[in-house]
Amino acid sequence: MEAIVLVGGQGTRLRPLTISTPKPMLPAAGVPFLTHQLARARTAGIEHVVLATSYRAEVFSEHFGDGSSLGLRIDYVTETDPLGTGGGIRNVVDRLESGPSDPIVVLNGDILSGHDIPAQIAAHRAAGAVATLHLVRVDDPSAFGSVPTDDRGRVTAFVEKSPEPVTNQVNAGCYVFDRALIDTIPAGRVVSVEHETFPALLAAGAVVVGYVEDAYWLDVGTPAAYVRASADLVRGVVASSAVERPGDAWVSPSARVVGAARVSGGSAVGPDVAVEAGSTVDGSIVMDGATVGSEVSVLRSVIGRGAELGDGCRLVDAVVGDGARLGAGNELTSGARVWPGVRLPDCAVRFSSDA
Ligand code: GDD
Ligand code: MG
Repeated sequence: MEAIVLVGGQGTRLRPLTISTPKPMLPAAGVPFLTHQLARARTAGIEHVVLATSYRAEVFSEHFGDGSSLGLRIDYVTETDPLGTGGGIRNVVDRLESGPSDPIVVLNGDILSGHDIPAQIAAHRAAGAVATLHLVRVDDPSAFGSVPTDDRGRVTAFVEKSPEPVTNQVNAGCYVFDRALIDTIPAGRVVSVEHETFPALLAAGAVVVGYVEDAYWLDVGTPAAYVRASADLVRGVVASSAVERPGDAWVSPSARVVGAARVSGGSAVGPDVAVEAGSTVDGSIVMDGATVGSEVSVLRSVIGRGAELGDGCRLVDAVVGDGARLGAGNELTSGARVWPGVRLPDCAVRFSSDA
């Protein structure tokens, strides 16, 4: 069984973290996020993976190499100019080894899903579909592809990111395609499966099926979703064979967390990090080489590589870019983002005043 994983997006909603690192390679529970997806794919019986890369393509192959450490064979195809989701899928066709009527799994590279991929493949085969889409129900479908199905489970429409979604059942970003369908996607130009391929298939009366399974599911496209995904992996809320032992926190063996500091809530503390006395790190990600001073409080936040938080800083739902340095007593909240390398003087930003 083969899979194509789309990892070429720029991850703009996760800036500045994605300036240096493509979204699927950001650390979650101590390893690049994509590791969890690849581990799940392997468990589902997938042996060969083609990564459709574009933005910062080299980072993927440098880390995963031939894939053997995950028990996979991984090939890489790079789009010099991004070709969109459909164009990216079409662009890797030469690397596929399956026959025309074989099913191929296609994954968005930023999805953490506990759903049953073999069951989705079985549903695809049973329905004789050309494409089978994993669908989940969400509270706010406007940020996703809204995908209604009829009483036989056939997809009846595909409406990408509409302010007026037709249903709260959405595209979960994992497809099973007949290999022959991929051959019909136009080559050498930008194609969106969401805007072009799916609507065209439906208009032509092709059998497109919805596989509805409300398992754990998260698109890690925003800082809030990214910290949650990492914390859920650390705590074992969603299983991953890339997490050795689920627990309240993951702390790299080379990190130094002094006894009088507390790391909890599924936090992940990377290699060579230092956390000083009296500090709390809760539900957060602290990347390689960052330093957290004393009496600091970090809640649901991301601290980039080599960043420094001075004594007494408070962060809630904030992102600090690589190498940024916050002087003592700064307070950042609600979506605040500090760009890489920025220096904030002591007490430059406070988020509340009861005066
Ligand atoms: N190779 C390649 N080339 N990959 C791309 C390109 C491209 O030009 N553009 C995007 N990707 C990859 C991204 O890296 C990501 O892994 C995946 O395709 C989806 O792109 P996102 O930018 O994350 O899309 P989205 O989250 O807004 O919407 C998509 O996912 C939703 C589910 O999470 C759509 O498929 C929606 O319909 C869906 O509901
Ligand atoms: Mg996404």
